[in-house]
Amino acid sequence: TAAAALASALPAMAQKKIVLGFSQIGAESEWRTANSESIKQSAKDAGIELKFSDAQQKQENQIKAIRSFIAQKVDVIAFSPVVESGWGTVLREAKAAKIPVILTDRAVNEKDDSLWVTFMGSDFVEEGRKAGRWLVDKMKDAKGEVNIVELQGTVGSAPAIDRKKGFEEIVKADPKFKIIRSQTGDFTRAKGKEVMEAFLKAEGKKINVLYAHNDDMAIGAIQAIEEAGLKPAKDIVIISIDAVKGAFEAMMAGKLNVSVECSPLLGGQLMQAVKDLKAGKTLPKRIVTEEGIFPMEVAAKEFPKRKY
Ligand code: AHR
Repeated sequence: TAAAALASALPAMAQKKIVLGFSQIGAESEWRTANSESIKQSAKDAGIELKFSDAQQKQENQIKAIRSFIAQKVDVIAFSPVVESGWGTVLREAKAAKIPVILTDRAVNEKDDSLWVTFMGSDFVEEGRKAGRWLVDKMKDAKGEVNIVELQGTVGSAPAIDRKKGFEEIVKADPKFKIIRSQTGDFTRAKGKEVMEAFLKAEGKKINVLYAHNDDMAIGAIQAIEEAGLKPAKDIVIISIDAVKGAFEAMMAGKLNVSVECSPLLGGQLMQAVKDLKAGKTLPKRIVTEEGIFPMEVAAKEFPKRKY
């Protein structure tokens, strides 16, 4: 009978896994690698089928991946948008297909916030402010100008825009702080090194402080500083963001002054959100990650506790 057929199909239906399509930016930094691992491992632990796509830093690849998830009729789409703008069309396509979208890590710049169900990740403006506050305190007794060079993240990305904004908001309160150069290092070590070399060539010993939007660029820049015969963290105060293990190693070696935490471990809460959605629950529109700040003085003590 039909009832018997349904009854025998029930266990299989109950076992049908939730399918999540995730479009990752790429593998530009230690942070990103940890983020991808967190998502893959958490999907396994949660019994969610993950379709993971790496966009190699290109927005067009992310859009293609999202379209392919829509065509495959996945249950939920999540992605970390490489840049803030240009998502309206593809997000409307997902909405028309009734597939909920979760933003992880980075925000989009779209007016219609019905295009995603929630945005989970750090408060990048606050991270910039934390970096700024640390510097203002560190330099409170410094007389004369404090010349800062800034290594920005990927052009047009939420963390680059927001970390610049938050930092400027704090340091502009005192005119002795001057950002004398600011350029993108695209969140990579190689670019961070290259741009720092150019800064050193142009400004030389004038540079008092390096503010890097992530640890990888700071680590690249440290190499450039050493190659220029200067002492990182002494001749040039270095502040960066993420607090990945590489940054702790640099701090323990006395080469990086401070790293503001930005946690890439978003996998667990992403899988929970996916399950909640499928269970018909309403998610908060914004889920903010809790984070701290680690100056070099505490690095050795904190290092063993670090999970990324
Ligand atoms: O979006 C988060 C940022 O992206 C991290 O701070 C950076 O390291 C990564 O590439």
